[in-house]
Amino acid sequence: MTLGSLAQGLYLVAGVLFVLSLAGLSKQATARRGNLLGMGGMALALVATVALAVDVSERPVPVTLLLVALVFVIGGVVGTWRARTVEMTQMPELIAVLHSFVGAAAVLVGINSYLTERADPLHLVEVFLGVLIGAVTLTGSVVAFLKLSARIRSAPLTLPGRNLLNLAALVVCGALLAWFLAAPSVVPLLLMTVVALALGWHLVAAIGGGDMPVVVSMLNSYSGWAAAAAGFMLGNDLLIVTGALVGSSGAILSWIMCRAMNRSFVSVILGGYGAEGGTAPAGDEPVGEHRETTPQEVAEMLQDARTVVITPGYGMAVAKAQYPVAELVARLRAQGTTVRFGVHPVAGRLPGHMNVLLAEAKVPYDIVLEMDEINDDLPATDVVLVIGANDTVNPAAEDPGSPIAGMPVLEVWRAKKVVVFKRSMATGYAGVQNPLFFRENTVMLFGDAKQRVEDIVAAVPAPAAALVR
Ligand code: TAP
Repeated sequence: MTLGSLAQGLYLVAGVLFVLSLAGLSKQATARRGNLLGMGGMALALVATVALAVDVSERPVPVTLLLVALVFVIGGVVGTWRARTVEMTQMPELIAVLHSFVGAAAVLVGINSYLTERADPLHLVEVFLGVLIGAVTLTGSVVAFLKLSARIRSAPLTLPGRNLLNLAALVVCGALLAWFLAAPSVVPLLLMTVVALALGWHLVAAIGGGDMPVVVSMLNSYSGWAAAAAGFMLGNDLLIVTGALVGSSGAILSWIMCRAMNRSFVSVILGGYGAEGGTAPAGDEPVGEHRETTPQEVAEMLQDARTVVITPGYGMAVAKAQYPVAELVARLRAQGTTVRFGVHPVAGRLPGHMNVLLAEAKVPYDIVLEMDEINDDLPATDVVLVIGANDTVNPAAEDPGSPIAGMPVLEVWRAKKVVVFKRSMATGYAGVQNPLFFRENTVMLFGDAKQRVEDIVAAVPAPAAALVR
């Protein structure tokens, strides 16, 4: 067996492992296994790629291995350092940076492939499309990173006739493709690269900060297609399979997020919508009187309750309150209280944000339910604790005139009592006032969510004490 055929066999196994990994990641119970399968697949893919590099390279084998080792060390050190230091709340911006690398790789592979390989028309189209998607992904991801990390203003850039500008850029790229096919040269390829870089920049600059997580997921999809295009150019089957998996799963995720925010995919892509994320003045006037409570009162309320539902949101992530929340849940369950979590699909700043935090704090996943699973049970719930969530529990979504009209939300106001944990009366991400705070059955517990939950935990007996009561 040659090294080349061994590598192709390993690629096939790796491709199957990636598919199984995605299937595992779709459920919390199997997510760990999914991750392990993905890591195994990636390890095999790396071994196979090194074997292929040794097989095809004209350099002496030790030189090839040394070059590969050098790249491994640089990538491994940077990757390990970032993975260890990044905060969960910064994950979307990290993902945006990673996508820009995929875009850059697709552009470089495309141009290199044109300069070094045969020039049949099919290959030229592959090169052109690969570089086009890669360039859009590259600058789009850089803008998404800059907006998410607040290095540039997150408000949408609304140039006059911006949709016409995008259309014009695509028409120019179409004309450059015709030129490239009729008289292949590096000039139309480089001209298209410049136009595509500008298009990617403008496309994402026109989208407001509020829609950025959808954009990151969409760029995830683009980066997958860019990788698949690179796979065609390099004749690498695994890159084609992986790229297609990333491309389609990113597209599905974008669609799910749009549905959960009641936004159309097209309106997100065309941009211009959306505010500055939490600071927009629209509709943030108080709509009544709110009542405040204390940790002691909440602790008493919880000890009298038979059923409790916790709806976490972005504030729980910022405060890192998941650990005391897990402790509170353990104490209440030890007393015989039924405690469950209701997680909105876009709670936090990226899909699955809350699930990851709760799993990190060792909350049993069978009590973590999705919005659709918990909504019908809320009217029979004694106490709902809204911990750092706002837009995802906003009854204004039922008001046809509201900017978030039609967004599916957790209907916490139907419960007997609601306690809202937040630091002020400020609005959430969408910048919309929340009438929940002024309802008869709602009380506000102001302060940092972690501190407030710890205060409540201190007032609820620990499990051993609870059992002897
Ligand atoms: P938000 O509506 O953003 O509300 C977060 C709340 O947490 C705010 O009311 C804030 O109030 C409070 N908070 C912040 N820091 C806190 C702290 N240290 N202690 C206590 N409270 C704190 O959160 P959500 O309900 O999770 O909704 C998510 C939003 O993000 C939605 O609008 C959603 O559409 C948007 N979004 C999410 C995604 C994904 S995929 N998750 C994608 C795109 C958009 P104070 O400032 O008064 O404390």
